[in-house]
Amino acid sequence: MREPRIPSITTDRLTLRGFSATDRDAYAALRGDPDVVRYLPGGEALVAFAEQIADTRIAAFREGWKRGFGVWAVEEAATGTFVGQAGLAAMDRTADVEVLYALARPYWGKGFAREAAAAALRFGFERVGLDRIVAFVLPENGASARVLEAVGLRSTGETDYNGFKVQGFAIEADEWRANGWVRK
Ligand SMILES: CC(C)(COP(=O)(O)OP(=O)(O)OC[C@H]1O[C@@H](n2cnc3c(N)ncnc32)[C@H](O)[C@@H]1OP(=O)(O)O)[C@@H](O)C(=O)NCCC(=O)NCCS
Repeated sequence: MREPRIPSITTDRLTLRGFSATDRDAYAALRGDPDVVRYLPGGEALVAFAEQIADTRIAAFREGWKRGFGVWAVEEAATGTFVGQAGLAAMDRTADVEVLYALARPYWGKGFAREAAAAALRFGFERVGLDRIVAFVLPENGASARVLEAVGLRSTGETDYNGFKVQGFAIEADEWRANGWVRK
C-alpha cells in the first residue's frame, strides 16, 4: 500500500513531523517511562512492552494519516531532538477526533505540550475542517487538564473512556475561531 503523506508543521520551538523507523528507540524509551505512561491508556502495566508498543504504534501512526490527520513525532526545533508525540486521533466508538500528546520528562514544564496541542488544533480546524475536537484526561492528570484549558478546550464533565472514569474536554470549530485561538 502507498504510504499516506504526512505534513510537517513548525511552531516557535517545535517541529511536528511524521514518525519514522529511526524514532523507534526514542519512542520505546518514552513508552518505557512509568511517569510518562501513568495516565495513558494501559498505564504503567505497558512499560514492560515498550519495545513492541513502539513498533506497532509507529506503524499505526503512519497508517492513521490516511484519514488526513494523525499523530506526529515532536522534535525540539533548535536541536532536532525527539521529545515526544502529539496530534489528532479518531476515537474508536464515536465519530469524534481527540487531541493527544505525551512528552519525555526532561521536556515537561516548558510549555511544549501546549505549543504542540495548539498546533494540532489549528491543523484540525483549519486544514482538515473538523467541527469539534475532544480530549479525555484522568482526574489525577492536572498538567494535561491545564494544557487543554490553555489551548481553549472546556470541561464537558465526567465520562467513560474504555472503562475508566475520565474528565471529558471539547472545543468546537466556531468556538476556536471566535475565541481568537487562531493566532496563538
Ligand atoms: C501532560 C504533559 C504533556 C504536560 O507537558 P508540559 O510540557 O509540562 O505541559 P506545559 O508546560 O505545556 O503545561 C503544563 C501546565 O500544567 C501545569 N501543571 C503541571 N503539573 C501540574 C499538576 N500536577 N496539576 C495541575 N497543573 C499542573 C503547569 O504549571 C503548566 O501550567 P501553566 O502553563 O499555566 O504554567 C506531560 O506532563 C506528559 O507528557 N505527561 C505524560 C503523558 C500524558 O499524561 N499525556 C496526556 C494524556 S491525557
